Amino acid sequence: MSMDAAAAHHHLPLLLLLLAAAAPLVLVLGATHPADQAFLDDLRKSLTNPDALGWPASGGDACGPPAWPHVSCDRSGRVLNLDLKNAGLAGTLPPSLASLAALQDLSLQGNSLSGPLPSFRGMAALRRAYLNDNDFDAIPADFFDGLTDLLDVSLADNPRLNATQGGWALPPSLAASAQQLQTLSLDNCSLAGAVPPFLGAMASLQNLTLSYNRLSGPLPPSFNASGLQRLWLNNQLGDDAKLSGTLDVVATMTSLQELWLHGNDFSGPVPDAIADCADIYTLRLNGNQLVGLLPPGLAAMPRLQELKLDNNDLLGPVPPVKAPNFTFSGNGFCAPNPGDACAPDVMALLLFLAGVQYPARLVASWSGNNPCAGWLGVTCVQGKVSVLNLPGYGLNGTISHSLGNVSTLTDVKLSGNNLVGRVPDSLARLSSLQKLDLSMNDLSGPLPAFSPSVTVNVTGNLNFNSTAAAAAPGAQPNTASPRSPGGPGGSRGVNTAPAAVPGTNGKKASSAVLLGTTIPVAVSVVALVSVGAMFLCKKRASMPPQAASVVVHPRDSSDPDNLAKIVVATNDGSSGTSQGNTHSGSSSLTGGDVHMIEAGNFVIAVQVLRGATKNFAQENVLGRGGFGVVYKGELHDGTMIAVKRMEAVAVSNKALDEFQAEIAVLTKVRHRNLVSILGYAIEGNERLLVYEYMPNGALSKHLFHWKQFELEPLSWKKRLNIALDVARGMEYLHNLGHHRFIHRDLKSANILLGDDFRAKVSDFGLMKDAPDGNFSVATRLAGTFGYLAPEYAVTGKISTKADVFSFGVVLLELITGTTAIDDTRVGEGEETRHLAYWFSQIRKDEEKLRAAIDPTLDLDAAEETFESISVIAELAGHCTAREPSQRPDMGHAVNVLVPMVEKWKPVKDEAEDYLGIDLHLPLLQMVKSWQDAEASMTDGSILSLEDSKGSIPARPAGFAESFTSADGR
Ligand SMILES: *[C@@H]1O[C@H](CO)[C@@H](O)[C@H](O)[C@H]1NC(C)=O
Ligand SMILES: *[C@@H]1O[C@H](CO)[C@@H](O)[C@H](O)[C@H]1NC(C)=O
Ligand SMILES: *[C@@H]1O[C@H](CO)[C@@H](O)[C@H](O)[C@H]1NC(C)=O
Repeated sequence: MSMDAAAAHHHLPLLLLLLAAAAPLVLVLGATHPADQAFLDDLRKSLTNPDALGWPASGGDACGPPAWPHVSCDRSGRVLNLDLKNAGLAGTLPPSLASLAALQDLSLQGNSLSGPLPSFRGMAALRRAYLNDNDFDAIPADFFDGLTDLLDVSLADNPRLNATQGGWALPPSLAASAQQLQTLSLDNCSLAGAVPPFLGAMASLQNLTLSYNRLSGPLPPSFNASGLQRLWLNNQLGDDAKLSGTLDVVATMTSLQELWLHGNDFSGPVPDAIADCADIYTLRLNGNQLVGLLPPGLAAMPRLQELKLDNNDLLGPVPPVKAPNFTFSGNGFCAPNPGDACAPDVMALLLFLAGVQYPARLVASWSGNNPCAGWLGVTCVQGKVSVLNLPGYGLNGTISHSLGNVSTLTDVKLSGNNLVGRVPDSLARLSSLQKLDLSMNDLSGPLPAFSPSVTVNVTGNLNFNSTAAAAAPGAQPNTASPRSPGGPGGSRGVNTAPAAVPGTNGKKASSAVLLGTTIPVAVSVVALVSVGAMFLCKKRASMPPQAASVVVHPRDSSDPDNLAKIVVATNDGSSGTSQGNTHSGSSSLTGGDVHMIEAGNFVIAVQVLRGATKNFAQENVLGRGGFGVVYKGELHDGTMIAVKRMEAVAVSNKALDEFQAEIAVLTKVRHRNLVSILGYAIEGNERLLVYEYMPNGALSKHLFHWKQFELEPLSWKKRLNIALDVARGMEYLHNLGHHRFIHRDLKSANILLGDDFRAKVSDFGLMKDAPDGNFSVATRLAGTFGYLAPEYAVTGKISTKADVFSFGVVLLELITGTTAIDDTRVGEGEETRHLAYWFSQIRKDEEKLRAAIDPTLDLDAAEETFESISVIAELAGHCTAREPSQRPDMGHAVNVLVPMVEKWKPVKDEAEDYLGIDLHLPLLQMVKSWQDAEASMTDGSILSLEDSKGSIPARPAGFAESFTSADGR
């Protein structure tokens, strides 16, 4: 008799007593505890491939002798360790698992186990449980109850755990029982909701990984000073909400060695205290919404090996971090190299921004090293910061004394914010200062002693020490100016939101209306969208006869590429101030002859553009539409531009405001695959928009009219590159900052090509997706038939998926070289005219697909071309799926295209370096010499709108337009 058997026999009388009724025979014959043996036998039955266990077919006694493979027992016949990792097991786990009462180590990771997890309730001996990398689909709520000895548990990579119920929350019983827990790995297992606060209070917990779940909300305060060494919260998957809030709590966790927070919505500045976490060797903060200046202490973290800061809204200098893996692209840093200093005015203004807690609107704008390069609220004269114009911006916080270092300031307008604290003495040292408007805030006195030449307005600051204020020369006593309405606690009516919801603000009559002139044609002929057409007719009929702002897309059937698409934000019939218009400064609009509206420094004098276009010479006309003409222009330094001159119309203050607000946003839309607005000019009734010039014109010209223009047909390689460029541009647009923008009119005529045949998307307006992203907003129809997604055409509801449809149509054009709507296309029925419909009919048939491919593409040369085309055809098929939910997002298209473009690289790649204008160089800078001359002329007539708080119109509109070189050069 073996020792094990002897030991078991030793317990026999007791076991017999307990279990005599149940299984006396097993007890007599086997050494393994009957409950444990029963579980193992159950396991064998519940697997679909029990042979993978390697257990004897004859069954028998698991604890042996000899013990079955993967099973270890103690002398009393209880299973201590079950080690079945990476054993290829498939099937489910029997519910009786918790009867392994002595089990200490369970390793089931790396199998294909599915079905529900059994409850582990009461397994008091269990120390380590590895259930990761399986396919379990449910976890019972009492799973962790009574696991008092648990040290290490992993459920990672079971993405379907309770996923059908929208995920699961960690039960608090974990913290109550597992007080020695050191390692908790719950990555990618469908955890949802908030990070449980009890995790922060688990004193033994060292390593907590919760990446790739659906967690949202801030890190709870219970994590303050926690002793965690590894914290991974990266890449939460929620579409609407990820982890958010500031990094203040993590900065208190000084035991941290690994901190991964990337791919979330964390916001606010990186706290100085992060540098106290001296043991951190890997710190990933990329892909959040972190803002502002970085703590210099980052450069001194002794163990740092990896620091990722990419894709945030960080500003100012890059600290000289020495970590071998240090990346920081996709921010607004002032200089490209770590350790480089910023311009003094930039530092001073960024410290001011820090004092007002980095409002998102300004953070998005105040990037780089030149405040005169279009920073919102900053106006420059002759290249010097002279006006800080931020009334009603919802600024919270204090006025930084650093503002006193911007020595060229003449005018500071900060009225109607929530500023608190004292007015810094440094402001009194600004030698050029003429006006300081701090009215309607919560500032307190005393006021520093300003020179008598400075006009100071501190009315409406109820806590102000009025005597001190009155004593200050030039200051107006504020006692008689209670803020209206509602006093200090009341709503100040400050509109901080960048956009209003369409149609909710009673401004309908004055908001823009979009009309596609293609639409009346479509009404009569397009069966597919006849319902949509009815919808349209109705909408049009209900439109006010004198639409305030009209967007017109004139079409010329003979050459759809050779025309300008025009947006006119024009007068609403009621001149003068419109209702609700509170712009104290806008009255001066009616006065002078030369007006510049401040929306950053994209303002440019008409004279400059006159010079650039040879006084709008006929020979420079690129395109022409019903409401304006696009001219080619050349700046002093040789930079080519495209200038759109809108038809002269009388402009109301309100229309100007909206024009300005919209341009302010368009100027922020910057991507190398999007045609950018470079500037604009308004003088009297003259309104000009300036864009980068795209020498090779529209894609459609190269696809459909290459013969006519005597062009080379595009190679497949070029087409792939163009598809990827467009996909990237669209992906950016769909994920712009905190909002998604919808193009609504993507088509080959709106895809412009540079010298190198790399593509940029033009004509994007400002249609914003609903805040929750995937849902659609009812809107007025715009766009071009043939490219319109069916749901948009029929219901007028739009989402980014409508753009995906249009993108799919463009892919089909690239494949077939035929237009989105083609009356000559052969096939059954009216719908055949529609490329997307027709292609869906033939796509699956290889012979027909081959026949559909543009004959200019040489298929015989390499079979790879056909393979590559087939992949794109499939992508196009998905993109043009009838159901929006079946269409991928643009990120998917990028992912499909990137490897294909790379695969084609060896043939002959165009260098990545990009011809064209460096978009980070503002137009103002490019024409500096000219503008300086202009500035001296326009000094004193610069108009700064007092109130820039007018919301950016959420109406469907776009000031951008396409324009192409008529002569193909
Ligand atoms: C998971 O879902 C099951 C039902 O399928 C439910 O009984 C259980 O309580 C859920 N688990 C958790 C932790 O909420
Ligand atoms: C926790 O993570 C740290 C940092 O990576 C590591 O050094 C340590 O060994 C881990 N602790 C445990 C218990 O796994
Ligand atoms: C830097 O990052 C790369 C890629 O993640 C990695 O392979 C390499 O080991 C890292 N180097 C250091 C020093 O951390």
